[in-house]
Amino acid sequence: MAEAQSDSDHLFLRACRRQPVERTPIWMMRQAGRYLPQYMAVRAKVSFIELCRTPELACEVTLQPIDEFGFDAAILFSDILILLEAMGMELVFAEGGPRMPQPIRDRAQVDALPVPDPEQTMPFVTEAVRLIRKSLAGRVPLIGFAGAPFTLATYAVDGSGANKSFPHTKALMFTDPEAAHALLGKLASSCATYLEAQVAAGAQAVQLFDSWAGILSPRDYREFALRYAKQVIDLLRASPTWRAGGVPIIYFVNGCAPYLEDYATSGADVLGVDWRIDLATVRARVGEGVALQGNLDPTCLFLPPDALRERVREVLDSHGSGPGHIFNLGHGVLPMTDPERVRVMVDSVKSLSQRG
Ligand code: CP3
Repeated sequence: MAEAQSDSDHLFLRACRRQPVERTPIWMMRQAGRYLPQYMAVRAKVSFIELCRTPELACEVTLQPIDEFGFDAAILFSDILILLEAMGMELVFAEGGPRMPQPIRDRAQVDALPVPDPEQTMPFVTEAVRLIRKSLAGRVPLIGFAGAPFTLATYAVDGSGANKSFPHTKALMFTDPEAAHALLGKLASSCATYLEAQVAAGAQAVQLFDSWAGILSPRDYREFALRYAKQVIDLLRASPTWRAGGVPIIYFVNGCAPYLEDYATSGADVLGVDWRIDLATVRARVGEGVALQGNLDPTCLFLPPDALRERVREVLDSHGSGPGHIFNLGHGVLPMTDPERVRVMVDSVKSLSQRG
């Protein structure tokens, strides 16, 4: 087992800061989840929402992929929609995905939304963070997370991810832009407060998930998504906890290729990249000032082991051996994935990226 390391020595944290590393670190979005038999065994006993609300169980499933595959970072087990629930919205996890039965559609509803106090409304989240840090005992760093304001708004306004064009969200943006901006501003404050609480409890990096921002035109991306992700990042950097040292901030837009120059101005330390563009192209267009995370197509995990290993090599080669690459999938792992392919990916990254 790896020796407990001081914070600054961790491979993942060094890569986030674009410092030299002996090999490329790897973790995987949705690494704790339904493709893992151990996770399904826990889920046979409790619902997803109960799992999120029970720190001991959230801790258990957070550690499962670390123990099983040796990922270089853990990610808090929770969901981006927990924050909307804390803002007073009803949340249902049903077959076919999460739903909010009472979506936000007008200015009065926006104005009625509170900016929640995380310790009061989601004590199970900060408790889970503390418990996971203790259980990890320094083996790997813990990543906290939140949905970015635009992606949270798609669920708050459309009420589910059923229609990936999010017509109600776009209708609000274009028929009542003031209400849309008021909503996004409130979500930005809520996100920042929520992430600050996770960091205060022990999260060693944070990721903002803008999973659906890729549906926007470049100008709408700037106005409705990037602007508010930046607001979260600026609020975090201005907070007292940050002045005491701060932690790396990762910003992930699924479908970032049309916006790269704008994406590079987010203020994040690390940009998440999906598989629709090569890392070499991204690096050339965003410059050296930021680390990159990604970007294997999650469906490459369906390939036979040898072909999968080649795809891993291509991702590593595309970034090259310069500083600032964290290996990840371009989006979350799919439930139908064979865990043994995940092992092939992790082992391939570790062996193929060895320096010197
Ligand atoms: O990455 C991790 O392992 C940490 C845990 C995590 C979950 N959701 C667990 C989860 C994280 C970081 C998320 C983020 C999340 N949740 C996002 C952004 C990331 C992304 O994938 O784009 C979004 C859009 C959501 C909303 C959400 N929650 C969706 C779309 C779903 C899946 C619906 C489905 O049935 O496919 C969920 C449920 C969910 N969140 C599960 C897990 C493990 C599955 C729930 C179960 O066990 O039944």
